[in-house]
Amino acid sequence: MRDVATLRIGPALKPRPPVPRITTPPEASPGRETAAASESSTASSTPAGRPIVEIDALNLFYGDKPALKNVTMAIPPHQVTAFIGPSGCGKTTLLRCLNRMNDLVEGVRITGTIRIGGEDIHAPTTDVTALRKRVGMVFQKSNPFPKSIYDNVAYGPRILGARARAHLDTVVERSLRAAALWEEVRDRLQESALRLSGGQQQRLCIARAVAVEPDILLMDEPCSALDPIATARIEELMEELKARYTIVVVTHNMQQAARVSDATGFMLLGELVEFGDTAALFTTPRDRRTEDYITGRFG
Ligand SMILES: Nc1ncnc2c1ncn2[C@@H]1O[C@H](COP(=O)(O)OP(=O)(O)OP(=O)(O)O)[C@@H](O)[C@H]1O
Ligand SMILES: [Mg+2]
Repeated sequence: MRDVATLRIGPALKPRPPVPRITTPPEASPGRETAAASESSTASSTPAGRPIVEIDALNLFYGDKPALKNVTMAIPPHQVTAFIGPSGCGKTTLLRCLNRMNDLVEGVRITGTIRIGGEDIHAPTTDVTALRKRVGMVFQKSNPFPKSIYDNVAYGPRILGARARAHLDTVVERSLRAAALWEEVRDRLQESALRLSGGQQQRLCIARAVAVEPDILLMDEPCSALDPIATARIEELMEELKARYTIVVVTHNMQQAARVSDATGFMLLGELVEFGDTAALFTTPRDRRTEDYITGRFG
């Protein structure tokens, strides 16, 4: 395997403020435990310089089985944050926590706190639909709806109440341009999305996700089914999209993490072993387990 120290890497991270110890009252959400109360925060937006995502002492259990163990981290806005780690270490689970998609899984129990834009996403006042608008997701396997290209992109805005055709036309074009797909599909918007190539379908799913103007875009192995050319396009896209969105990407491809991300987290058996500046993590990892993994000695 190629020496990771020679990989092309992203720009260095600016120093981040420490993660505040924030918890919610135990009655915040039924079926959900919280850590001992400490300070609380009344912030309702993300002031400049503050992390957009703050995770504190997060544990997640599928039934009795722990899948995330005491994860504490902060994700800065307008950067690409990557998660790497062996299969089954909890990367998808962690990603799905950020828009409460694990709520849909039977028997899930969560402790700890996740704040997005300063707001506790498990607070009783949290509108989960609004949260999922704010935190969009693109999956490993592109999953366009069996509808036209146009209707795929217009789907989210329509659910949120957009009806005027001129407005939807604008949103569809803007989103397809953002996903670097417009030029390829502008003359066939009414064709079925299922007739697009795999790489085009994945960019369509990105267009669909950005159509509702999320703050955060979660991408779970978005390139694993794509060829190197389509992968390179998605990687370029991440670089462009981070000007408008915060991107959190899971990848098995360490070269990809090193190329596209500003910060990287290495996970192992549900634990966030190490998290920090991508350049530093790949060249001078602090933890022996990270070093073993990125140099291929793991296991
Ligand atoms: N719905 C579920 N019910 C029970 N256990 C689950 C469920 N989803 C995931 N798990 C378990 O939680 C652990 C973490 O799974 P997760 O999918 O988050 O891993 P991952 O790091 O994304 O793996 P991969 O790289 O293979 O996608 C695994 O042991 C998995 O078996
Ligand atoms: Mg996964």
